[in-house]
Amino acid sequence: MELVIQPDAERAAWLVASLIAKALREKPHLVLGLATGRTMERVYNHLVRMHRDDKLDFSLCRTFNLDEYIGLPPDNPGSYRYYMDHHLFNHINIDHRNTFLPDGMATDLKAACRHYEEMILEFGGVDLQLLGIGSDGHIGFNEPLSALRSRTRDKALTPSTIAVNGTLFNKPGEMPTRAITMGVGTILDAHAIILLVSGSTKADILAKAVEGPITSMVSASALQLHPQCRVVVDEHAAVKLQAQEYYRWIFATEPEWAGFRSDKQ
Ligand code: GLP
Repeated sequence: MELVIQPDAERAAWLVASLIAKALREKPHLVLGLATGRTMERVYNHLVRMHRDDKLDFSLCRTFNLDEYIGLPPDNPGSYRYYMDHHLFNHINIDHRNTFLPDGMATDLKAACRHYEEMILEFGGVDLQLLGIGSDGHIGFNEPLSALRSRTRDKALTPSTIAVNGTLFNKPGEMPTRAITMGVGTILDAHAIILLVSGSTKADILAKAVEGPITSMVSASALQLHPQCRVVVDEHAAVKLQAQEYYRWIFATEPEWAGFRSDKQ
């Protein structure tokens, strides 16, 4: 795992968008794993701008989202399909037929979960998985005690997740209490992973996830097992990290980060 501290949330999102852009330029058929949430909005703004101003080409790219609420149709503004269309897909030259989310409207949810796993395999697996973190340490919707080898499945959300994410819905009670999510094992199968974390409310859980023990109580701690995982955070999220000095030294000195240190946004 490599951890990079950026001055603010905007710069952190820019760095993540730049890493995605680099991967896409190197492999136009990239299979990209995508995430939702407020943190990702900045990343998608940058990708839209890079498409518009720098001709970043998504025409051959395929995407698989981490999760989707159960029982929300795609035209519901609370659904993750709506979120992705609104923040990214409608503004870039991706073929919408190559954008996949779990089918939260399926009558047979177990079959829909199996089908999602099969499709990811058919496309050769996820090349680069983008992740955020929930305040209880979830990645996707893998709530505490999710098996570290879990696969795509339907999952009950915790009351705390319902309280936090419920603010994104117009009416209280409108938010579904269940979702389909890639499992922790599914996520760990991605060839490379980028976790983006910003804001002081995530400082405690970030420290637990990256510097604490690996435990199913904090699903994101399983990322410590992944050989190609980069974690990009802002100063506010970084305050509880013990090895800050080391992380800053790596970013300042490793050749891998040279092109990202002083580039303009
Ligand atoms: C949801 C998503 C997660 C995301 C999390 C954090 O629960 N299922 O994938 O990481 O929200 O969202 P935010 O960035 O709004 O804090």
